[in-house]
Amino acid sequence: MRSIIVLLLLNLLTDCSVSITVKVPPGFVVAHVGSTVILPCWISPAQNAEAMEIRWYRQKQFKTPVLLYEHGRIQDKQEESFRNRSSLTPRSDHSGGLKGGDVSLQLEKITIQDEGPFHCYVSGHSAYDSAELELKVTAPGSAPVLFPRALDDGRLNVSCSSSGWYPEPNITWTSDQGKTLRPAGVSLHRAADGLFSVHSWTTVSPSDAQLVSCSVSTTTGESKEGNMDIQGFISSDPWKPLFITFTLLFCALLGVAGLILYKYRGKLTDCENGPVEERKGYTGVQMSDNAYENASVDINIEDLRKHAEQITIDRENISPDLKITNDCKCVRDSPDYHHTAEGFPYQLCAFGAQRYTSGRHYWEVELTRENTPAKNYWLIGVVKHGNHCGKDRSALTPSRGYWFLCSDGKNGFYTNTDSPITLSISPRPERLGVLLDYDEGLLEFYSVKESKHLLTMRTRFSGSIVPLFNPGVGDKSPLKIVDCPVTVESPVELTVSLLYNWNTDA
Ligand SMILES: *[C@@H]1O[C@H](CO)[C@@H](O)[C@H](O)[C@H]1NC(C)=O
Ligand SMILES: *[C@@H]1O[C@H](CO)[C@@H](O)[C@H](O)[C@H]1NC(C)=O
Ligand SMILES: *[C@@H]1O[C@H](CO)[C@@H](O)[C@H](O)[C@H]1NC(C)=O
Repeated sequence: MRSIIVLLLLNLLTDCSVSITVKVPPGFVVAHVGSTVILPCWISPAQNAEAMEIRWYRQKQFKTPVLLYEHGRIQDKQEESFRNRSSLTPRSDHSGGLKGGDVSLQLEKITIQDEGPFHCYVSGHSAYDSAELELKVTAPGSAPVLFPRALDDGRLNVSCSSSGWYPEPNITWTSDQGKTLRPAGVSLHRAADGLFSVHSWTTVSPSDAQLVSCSVSTTTGESKEGNMDIQGFISSDPWKPLFITFTLLFCALLGVAGLILYKYRGKLTDCENGPVEERKGYTGVQMSDNAYENASVDINIEDLRKHAEQITIDRENISPDLKITNDCKCVRDSPDYHHTAEGFPYQLCAFGAQRYTSGRHYWEVELTRENTPAKNYWLIGVVKHGNHCGKDRSALTPSRGYWFLCSDGKNGFYTNTDSPITLSISPRPERLGVLLDYDEGLLEFYSVKESKHLLTMRTRFSGSIVPLFNPGVGDKSPLKIVDCPVTVESPVELTVSLLYNWNTDA
């Protein structure tokens, strides 16, 4: 009799445990593009799930699941896009894993396509249950870059651009008085990779504000802000004061000459209009120097590296006085090249084998190697495809399709803009990051080690643009293009090869 009751009780117990309730947290889960995320899901009350079927699937994709666990192991049957990046992972250290009924899904390398509902389905011998959990994907874009332009009426046209956002970002402008500035224009662009870039401009009078901020944010809570001291802009606009000084000087000289040559009736008019013409088509430069120090936002190198490209040197089009390694990554001056002329050897050019006609592209250049100081001489930038470099620097201008930053030893760092800008960069960059934003017309330089923005050149690109490298002469370290770690999750240790295999027949 007694054993019958026990049997009955046991039967009842197994019948009770047959019912399954699957739980997921309320709301949704937010994950960054490229990151790893856990979608929590568990059986409540807890029971061992090791012998159950666990099936994670997308809407209407029951038969091609994200992950299927059955007969005690994970099955091969799977939607291809989730292969090698999905697993069952405990949602916490105390959940007890499968034994404790925790059937949470881990997804790696999140992409925009992963956004949407996920179903967590658990089936025992005679009962099953499922729950739905929404995944929202987000990407924090680049730090907004502000750029001012003087308008004829004394106001400034300040523009702000940023890219790499998801979902669609919202842009707001404020001044230091906490006043909201109305954007005069906003344009949103979606790139092929699904990420958004945003551009906006507004006008502001320097008498109304000292600082202008542009903030880009998403509904998922990502937000980045850039500031600009517009007073700083006015005093650090390298063209205006110089230009006015030269114009005045020019006029004064002409005036003197005019007095002397009065009787010869020289054509001494229009002294203001001449130089104005030359200012057209200049390349704007924005520096992270004193005027912008406070304004510079945190640079996240990982953000830049999302646009990382594998750059190699074009072996066919290299200066004969340069040597490159077999992997086309390192370049240096040939030991038998003797630089006799004065000044930087602009003609020692090497070009990237990759050509760009749109989009954002990022690469890094190593300018040091173990136990040697950072290189003193280098020239790094971009060039219009097909251009070659001569000795004459005055021919290497943006209007002719050259954009670069040059480190010229004791002469410091300078740009090749029509009025060259000299920068003081300290310490010397050991690794330089270069961001080419073709569509926005931006070329930006970063010091990777210090996560510092050095310089932005603003221009308009046309045709194919290729990376430009020049290792200068006389440095112990070569110039080495490095492959950036691609994944955000687990940065790969970069091994900088110390064995340079110089290709002597290059
Ligand atoms: C998954 O990993 C295996 C083994 O590492 C590899 O052979 C396969 O190509 C990978 N599949 C995908 C879709 O990445
Ligand atoms: C201000 O600059 C933007 C480009 O950033 C341009 O589209 C706009 O027309 C300019 N506005 C004025 C009034 O010049
Ligand atoms: C953008 O932000 C502003 C200010 O917070 C808000 O008024 C506006 O509705 C937002 N627009 C969108 C499209 O989210």
